[in-house]
Amino acid sequence: MAHDVPNLMDPVTYKDHVPHEYFAELRGTTPVALRHDEGSVPYWAVMGYDACVRVNREWEEFSSHEKTVFLSDADEALLAQQQQMMINMDPPSHTQYRRLVNKAFTPRMVRDLEARLHVVTDELLNRVCEQGSADFVVDIAAELPLTVIAELMGVPFEDRHKMFDWSNKMIGSEDPEYVVNPIMTAIATMELFGYASELFSKKRTDPQEDLMSALVNVDADGESLDDLELALFFLLLSIAGNETTRNLIAGAMHAFFEFPEQWELLRADRSLMPGAVEEMLRFVTPVMCFRRTAMCDVSLEGAEIQQGDKVVFFHISANRDEQIFENPDVFDIRRTPNPHIAFGGGGPHFCLGANLARMEIAVMFEHLLDRMPEIRQAGPAARLQSPFINGIKHLEVRFPAHQPVTL
Ligand code: HEM
Repeated sequence: MAHDVPNLMDPVTYKDHVPHEYFAELRGTTPVALRHDEGSVPYWAVMGYDACVRVNREWEEFSSHEKTVFLSDADEALLAQQQQMMINMDPPSHTQYRRLVNKAFTPRMVRDLEARLHVVTDELLNRVCEQGSADFVVDIAAELPLTVIAELMGVPFEDRHKMFDWSNKMIGSEDPEYVVNPIMTAIATMELFGYASELFSKKRTDPQEDLMSALVNVDADGESLDDLELALFFLLLSIAGNETTRNLIAGAMHAFFEFPEQWELLRADRSLMPGAVEEMLRFVTPVMCFRRTAMCDVSLEGAEIQQGDKVVFFHISANRDEQIFENPDVFDIRRTPNPHIAFGGGGPHFCLGANLARMEIAVMFEHLLDRMPEIRQAGPAARLQSPFINGIKHLEVRFPAHQPVTL
């Protein structure tokens, strides 16, 4: 196929759509290819399912720590800071850190949140239901993950937007609608760290039933996190738990608009919800790719990767690999099996919030099906310009106006 070669690191490439056709072409011709996309050092792009899973699992060959998992090539100072986040650690430090975090992030804590999720979802639908229209992303999809993360961490409700704003500014964004400059980033960093350390002292003296209270006091075996580690975890959760879930909910709503018979299927048979959630995850794949660094010379599907090379594996391509998924471009809520890697391919960093995210998605769609079964798309989806997150910024919808429900 003759066409201009898209630059996979350029945010503008993702402005109108994810280049799924191009990914399919690469899977068929060069599933692991050395690329020279402008804006990045040369890197290996890994497209096939099996190879992505291998890169994800073989942490001794493909390090998360060496140059972090982020796509951009950070300077020394930033690199040193980012390397202290759990997502950018390798075993054994990662194993130790994750064990500590797991003690606090218990399945019970997640389960206990379910009742709150129903209330929060009804509250946010109540705010728009009488209007008969909404920006689905801003008014509906964004609020649930934000509120959940804030509650999980014990951040007071009224501070949740602050937390979101700081983490957005710290991570920055390449989309012109949200662009930030380095001074804004530096201020946000100081503010977030200041806020976090105040919150930790409160949790030390007056612990509640929340994750941060559990974490500041996790030292039964003489192990605990210091303030910087706690602040970085706080930051990681603000980032990891928000944009991902928001874009999953928005992207899945958009998929239902594209495949309306799937909406009707789910509406008629709610027992399909667990499978539908997995298919939403596969089809949308909010985290499109992550980076690793080769720690030795390694051969991958015929490609000879050298020690020190940058390797980027594309979950978004793996999740449409025709060797694994029949008719991969079809959104099919009854698809089974569905071994997608939207939360990772089973490596040590497998998404810590996977079960929480699944619960949020199911609750949100249950309520939408109950309260807005006639929801329709009322304008084009405005996509996020990012090579990393498959996102929608705005999506106008309409639905029959109705009375708020009593809570
Ligand atoms: C649809 C929603 C979500 C998606 C698609 C998603 C995706 C991912 C992916 C791809 C990874 C990296 C896995 C790997 O490299 O093996 C990850 C890690 C992580 N996720 Fe999620 N995530 C979601 C929601 C959440 C939520 C709600 C939370 C927190 C409450 C969360 C917290 C984390 C953390 C802390 C890590 C790092 C784990 C580690 O380094 O060991 N995520 N997520």
